[in-house]
Amino acid sequence: MEMVDVETKNGWIEVITGCMYAGKTEELLRRIRRIGFAKKTYLSFRPGIDNRYSKTEIVSHNKNKIQTIVVANAKEIYDFLVEYEKKNNLPYAIAIDEVQFFDDAVVDLCEYLADRGVRVIVAGLNTNFKGEPFGIMKDLIARAEYVTKLSAICQVCGAVATRTQRIVNGREASYNDEVILVGATESYEARCRHCHVVYDKPDILRKFK
Ligand code: TMP
Ligand code: MG
Repeated sequence: MEMVDVETKNGWIEVITGCMYAGKTEELLRRIRRIGFAKKTYLSFRPGIDNRYSKTEIVSHNKNKIQTIVVANAKEIYDFLVEYEKKNNLPYAIAIDEVQFFDDAVVDLCEYLADRGVRVIVAGLNTNFKGEPFGIMKDLIARAEYVTKLSAICQVCGAVATRTQRIVNGREASYNDEVILVGATESYEARCRHCHVVYDKPDILRKFK
């Protein structure tokens, strides 16, 4: 879905989500570039945890990139903006990539900024390798005005991929593995529901027994 071009009151939350290799970061960068072409102001942030491609940029798997502010947590974004506001108006837009890695304060921060008239654009994984909601993403998706859910192509069967498969030493990962494992093609594949495998997953019907 294309984002609002008919503006009423400024300030809302846009979430770009989906599995890995769906083009979330590409879409975030596209929106930021449009804002730049329109000569509107923006700031972009991402968590320092993910230094796969760069320490100072947001970089898509396709190697598109822009300069970004790397932070450890949501409080660092807030603190940055408090200092920023001493000299400038808040920007038209604030973008956050890899938002699934942030603590729950990021949800409050997004709401606060949107209430203050900022266009908040965030991108992150909706599910972890287990196929379960990734951290704060469900809270953000529930609160967002606009949600764009992107899909990839299953690397096993070619169907529409909505899941991220973790592979450890050539084998599909176990349900009991840690949720956070930064990586790209060496550790993760895009897969459809049917080809997605999670070893040791609890019986899905356990609540009915
Ligand atoms: P991407 O969405 O930009 O491709 O990046 C997702 C990042 O999240 C990547 O560094 C791998 C990491 N990740 C986890 O830490 N745990 C998971 O369960 C999954 C699926 C990805
Ligand atoms: Mg990305």
